[in-house]
Amino acid sequence: MIEYRREGLLPEKPHSVFKPEGQLAYEHVFTRDGFDGPFSILYMREQVQFMGEGVSVDALWDVSVGRDPQALRRRHLRSFERAENKEMSRTEEHFLARQVLLSNADLTIGTCKFESAAETLFSNGDADELFYIHEGGGVLESAYGELEFRQGDYLCVPKSVIHRIRVKGPQYWFWVECKSGLRVPKQYRNTIGQLRMDAPYTHRDFKSPVLKVATQRRASSSFELTTKRRGRFSKHQLSADPFDSLGWDGTVYPFTFHISRFSPRSGQYHLPPTVHGTFATAGSLICSFVPRMVDFGEGAIPCPYPHSNVDVDEVIFYCDGDFTSRRGLQAGSISLHPAGIPHGPHPGAYEASIGAKEAHETAVMIDTFDPLRIHAAAETIEDAHYDESWV
Ligand SMILES: [Fe+2]
Repeated sequence: MIEYRREGLLPEKPHSVFKPEGQLAYEHVFTRDGFDGPFSILYMREQVQFMGEGVSVDALWDVSVGRDPQALRRRHLRSFERAENKEMSRTEEHFLARQVLLSNADLTIGTCKFESAAETLFSNGDADELFYIHEGGGVLESAYGELEFRQGDYLCVPKSVIHRIRVKGPQYWFWVECKSGLRVPKQYRNTIGQLRMDAPYTHRDFKSPVLKVATQRRASSSFELTTKRRGRFSKHQLSADPFDSLGWDGTVYPFTFHISRFSPRSGQYHLPPTVHGTFATAGSLICSFVPRMVDFGEGAIPCPYPHSNVDVDEVIFYCDGDFTSRRGLQAGSISLHPAGIPHGPHPGAYEASIGAKEAHETAVMIDTFDPLRIHAAAETIEDAHYDESWV
């Protein structure tokens, strides 16, 4: 979804006989928006069949809503606390370890903490998934090859891509399920789709999977896949290794983008947060705040102004550094400032920022148009005194 890429072995023409190893390779065409949107074509050693019917499994993600899911107040969710809570141990696989905190028609927002070596295959048929790797790292395996990721990376797994995640050590990720799809903001593209010279990143900043075509087939074993579609989970047995591919090309593939590769900008006087826009969905903008020089005009106030952004709910995941405009937050904090009430810096922060030259924060912000619902899991980690902290 960034640009056209290719890996491994490909025939000259799609949909034609291709026998790189003497026997016919099977094409697997992966399309979006019906057959009208971005697509990739993979070449598999074997056609991967779904064996028998899928077996429904109980809901694997707790999506129960809170006591008063629409209550209007500024919230601080202490997501870092969960790491210290033994009852919520981090031994599950990534797709089991989701904590659903907030959601609307466009997004599900939460965290993902786990540390196991994954064995099970997963595909999310509802959404592109975006993870911000707050702690940890590993390798995403798929038919596209292997994609390494590390702390500070955004990791995007497109809808319905069968994958498995291999990690070493504890993982703590901020997670956004993008039901309308994830893309680069339109204003960063030129007329032929290339990232513009004034975009805050370049094509080289996006890493895609590397496919090393195996010379030997993997020993056959059971290939069990868990899928999610319309919020329901089911298990399937596959007839062959779904990663046994020979090559692929196209525009749909998993990718990473390291937050430090985002080129921030500042102005003579304060620029709106849209200049930090990194990814877009149909109804949301995902922004990266990274260390930067701040506004340099005479008398400039670098701290964000108090404001009423009357159409969007604002969520911030705090990653690292000093969060000058907000008190009482730390790495792993998630703030929610909903539309309908104004918000802004904590008392004193606005004044204190005058004359500042640099900001040393790293954070992921989401502005989303559809109001967010508060889930029960969010209430269990809510800081009861956050709203009062403005008084
Ligand atoms: Fe705001």
